[in-house]
Amino acid sequence: MTDAIGYERIGDIAILKAQNPPVNALGYDVRVGLMDGIARAETDGAKAVLIYGEGNTYFAGADIREFGQKPKAPGLPEVCDRIEASPLLVVSAMHGTALGGGLEVALSTHYRIAVPSARVGLPEVLLGILPGAGGTQRLPRVAGTEAALDLIITGRHIKADEALKLGVIDRIEDGAPRDIGLAYTRELLDQGAPRRPVSEMDAPAPVDFDAVYDSVLKKGRGQISPATAVRAVQAAAELPFAEGMKRERELFMDLMNTDQREGLIHAFFSERAVGKLPELKGVEPRPLSAIGVIGGGTMGAGIATAALLSGLTVTMLEMTPEAAEAAKGRIAGNLQGALKRGKISPEKFEALTEKALTLATDYGALKDADLVIEAVFEEMEVKKKVFTQLDAVAKPGAVLATNTSYLDVNQIAAVTSRPADVIGLHFFSPAHVMKLLEVVVADRTAPDVVATGFALGKRLGKISVRAGVCDGFIGNRILSTYRTCADHMILDGASPYQIDKALEDFGFAMGPFAVADLAGLDIGWAVRKRKRAEGLDPRARDSSYADTLCEGGHFGQKTGKGYYDYAAGPRSRVPNPDVLPLIEAERAAQGLAPRAFTDEEIVRRYMAAMVNESAKVVGEGIARRPLDVDMTLLFGYGFPRYRGGPLKWADLQGLPGLLEDIKSYAKEDPYFWEPAPLLEQLVAEGRNFDDLNKEAAA
Ligand code: CAA
Repeated sequence: MTDAIGYERIGDIAILKAQNPPVNALGYDVRVGLMDGIARAETDGAKAVLIYGEGNTYFAGADIREFGQKPKAPGLPEVCDRIEASPLLVVSAMHGTALGGGLEVALSTHYRIAVPSARVGLPEVLLGILPGAGGTQRLPRVAGTEAALDLIITGRHIKADEALKLGVIDRIEDGAPRDIGLAYTRELLDQGAPRRPVSEMDAPAPVDFDAVYDSVLKKGRGQISPATAVRAVQAAAELPFAEGMKRERELFMDLMNTDQREGLIHAFFSERAVGKLPELKGVEPRPLSAIGVIGGGTMGAGIATAALLSGLTVTMLEMTPEAAEAAKGRIAGNLQGALKRGKISPEKFEALTEKALTLATDYGALKDADLVIEAVFEEMEVKKKVFTQLDAVAKPGAVLATNTSYLDVNQIAAVTSRPADVIGLHFFSPAHVMKLLEVVVADRTAPDVVATGFALGKRLGKISVRAGVCDGFIGNRILSTYRTCADHMILDGASPYQIDKALEDFGFAMGPFAVADLAGLDIGWAVRKRKRAEGLDPRARDSSYADTLCEGGHFGQKTGKGYYDYAAGPRSRVPNPDVLPLIEAERAAQGLAPRAFTDEEIVRRYMAAMVNESAKVVGEGIARRPLDVDMTLLFGYGFPRYRGGPLKWADLQGLPGLLEDIKSYAKEDPYFWEPAPLLEQLVAEGRNFDDLNKEAAA
């Protein structure tokens, strides 16, 4: 036996205890341990076997770190079949999360008991695969085809009570898993309860699998694992169990060999790695219970909403009582959303808006705050004024944060008497919804202030990424480059609608022009004006058609028109007929002859621009690791998760080919397409971005 599974005998019951922290993942040792444990119980006279997990959980799934490596026998399907086929009565006692392979093991045992807080699910499609150890064959037999399809396609976790209703577990009991499991197994033995192999149950009822497949494929925006899983469940309904298992394995292996699986696994580990910074090891964050927010516009109100929902008290500072009331209205509106979705009760809503939130118009009200975030107008002089006033009142040790999206945090810090306490916390709008937080570390920011930024992000349920100071930090800097690439393609002959469609087909939640309409065209207009005032590089390609739209009062969704016309509502966009003539006039004025672009070329150029700038951001140390860029784009910019992020995508394409393309684009536009030194270096050394991630983790 391996150490990963402990063996114990209590009377005629053999107990197999999983002891593979942190989540009892079903790696090689655990699989061998289960096989050996069942065999030992069978030979040493036991009548029943109880399986449970030590620590926080029953088995949370296959060991994801083994994916992509050569499989080592026994595989999990074999283990599950062995457990189910045992002549002994086999029982699972579940706590924590029985996910993926974990639930598949449970479904191969004959009875299942769980504590009330246990959750179960088959989240494999979220990792780009499908349940590969009988989950698609056993779950529909136990819970019915429709319920199984729902769980397998969405990957959602369900609580014990829902699992009980579906027949996935047989009983819920509070207590230690070992104790409730032993009592239940004893009871079953005393009753003479029969073994109950799920594989011997009737095949589940068929549904219109083709229709489900089509609708799931469409909803997946290019992601194939959920739709493929439908075909595996179909096999459960149409084939004998053993053949259904074979079909499941084939489909599982097909998915295992896809880039999508690699992208999703990269996302899984990167979202956990992103907040782990060597520099913060052992650094304690400062205490956080009361925060201040300066400015109650959309962003400030969103930040306040997120903070209130996380249990922090919030003082909202505005210029006038009327503006403060308006801010409160915005916060209450946001919280109404949480109330409607059942996330908070009416009493909680009342407590958050009336007790946890304080309105103020005097900086003195911020004197007790542990952390203050300003979310005022995006202009350096305005920010400096705010920080001067804040510096005068904030208590010693308070963290002073700016939500600027591109301004120099060092300059802002320099107006205070305590630059070590100043940090950038760049939220994304709507801040109570969007998952990304850029923690912008200035030259003099103290490590415990950085740790506090990450602690706040964690508390608010955000994915926090460390960024250095530069124009636009990680995300907006890269955005500005790939947006410029899209603007260039328009001048050269593509239309905004073709570009949006090509990128949405690639998997982006929205194309760049639809995004611009959503964010407000006035934002880009202000940036263009600022950059022109600062002096454009003489080689830059400027254009004014978007300015003309703004001058006409068309700022996108909020005014009903931008690149698109939203007369029929925000979700039913149609091209604004004024846009193409404006673009044609611009091309004519600049003497540019339009050419045709294929969708493939659009995607390639756009992605190449994104990768090249991302490589510069990593090379300059603005992002510490490639995975920090990947997570920024995934959680803040609608990048398709199943592609892992721009630098994971680049690795999967092959860096040499990408660099060649960038060099060929650079012949037309040497300034814009200048290859990133880091990209050139990696190609020269035959390495890729993931190698850098691995080196950083080592
Ligand atoms: N394999 C390997 N490592 C895993 C893992 C897994 N299945 N699940 C979690 N871990 C690791 C995490 O990477 C993390 O490691 P570090 O501490 O080094 O970062 C550690 O375990 C703790 O995980 P979390 O930080 O996520 O802890 P949590 O308490 O917030 O969440 C969890 C626990 C709900 C189990 C969550 O980790 C999770 O959802 N895990 C994935 C579960 C899953 O998808 N299982 C299906 C696997 S695929 C499968 O089973 C295929 C099949 O059909 C054969």
